[in-house]
Amino acid sequence: MSDLSKRHILLGMSGGIACYKSAELCRALIKAGATVQVILTEAAAQFVTPVTLQALSGRPVYVSQWDPREPNNMAHINLSREADALVVAPASADFMAKLLHGRADDLLSLSCLARPMRRVPLILAPALNREMWQHPATQRNVAQLRADGAQVLGVGEGDQACGETGDGRMLEPEEILAELVAFFQPKTLAGQRVLVTAGPTFEPLDPVRGLTNRSSGKMGFAVAQAAREFGAEVILVAGPVHLETPRGVRRVNVETALEMQTAVQAEMNQADVFVATAAVADWRVEGGSTQKIKKAQGEPVPTLALTENPDILGQVAASARAQSGALYCVGFAAESHDLIAHAQAKRERKGVPLLVANLGPATFGRDDNALTLIDAQGVHEMPPNRKIELARQLMAEIARRLPKKT
Ligand code: C5P
Repeated sequence: MSDLSKRHILLGMSGGIACYKSAELCRALIKAGATVQVILTEAAAQFVTPVTLQALSGRPVYVSQWDPREPNNMAHINLSREADALVVAPASADFMAKLLHGRADDLLSLSCLARPMRRVPLILAPALNREMWQHPATQRNVAQLRADGAQVLGVGEGDQACGETGDGRMLEPEEILAELVAFFQPKTLAGQRVLVTAGPTFEPLDPVRGLTNRSSGKMGFAVAQAAREFGAEVILVAGPVHLETPRGVRRVNVETALEMQTAVQAEMNQADVFVATAAVADWRVEGGSTQKIKKAQGEPVPTLALTENPDILGQVAASARAQSGALYCVGFAAESHDLIAHAQAKRERKGVPLLVANLGPATFGRDDNALTLIDAQGVHEMPPNRKIELARQLMAEIARRLPKKT
């Protein structure tokens, strides 16, 4: 299953130079498994041609409400009834002003007005010059469109095609895609604050060397992304990894286990859920050198004295907040053999209600995984899947177990 499998997106473009990015968006939506029907306004067709979008979407593009290809000549009804979402990207200042008044004198605005509101969400990705974006008329229109039920995405900041710099750029295609994928996830973690640790830790020996492990951080980042998609506010404490921060997630970078412990302690009292995905190094070097340890001819090989790192999850799980049920703790266990027996023992030892077991060598660095959930009720297998899909299944399981917020 891809992120947008079985979703049909009606992709509208109004007039703006950002149309060229929406050609990429069209492609990205299709790559994510969606089918896409494109509608261009006449202004949009000045920036990109129907031929381009037909080639990318694999479907004839609509521009006019008088298009005779529809047997009943009601393209606005037919197209808007088929869709799971209507995305307008770019949404120009003029187009938003028009929508606000319920005007419908071209196929795209007509389709926005004619869509079944409760079933087909309207998602707008504005693209404007910075002065146009800041203008009180635009801000007023955006506020009213939101009040009328549209989801108006934010705008990006930076260089603009007009040569100016500021707010108003359309979000990048992958950002719009992420918003859309998130939109379709259930919001069962809304109002919850989720704290996640991810990646390895790095324990320095000296300024240039250190002890670390093979954790890529992919599972923890997927957990953070899924929690955000489910509506939670998410803080991701990440060890040294080269992964992009999931959209909408607040990231705190750390290197060592001690830094991770400090970051977690600073956040845990505001969190409702703690998911410890990080592969924290068990030991650090005692009295690491501040200078590079030099290799010298004839000198003995240095020996390393190790000392134990704090058990971050164990400490959080033992805290008054976790013990009172206000903070729900989830641990991960990466094992190489006897997965269930080791994981059950770890769940007891760490004192967590839910432990997620996976086979270490089979998961490190990969995009796929398989999970085994272990709680007081028993064992629940999640068969092999993409890490993000497993993370979403895990979030659904966590949401079910949380006490209802009053
Ligand atoms: O004991 P082990 O390292 O296998 O436990 C794994 C679980 O404990 C993971 O959830 C990991 O994030 C967490 N952990 C931790 N602090 C440590 C070691 C592990 O939070 N020092």
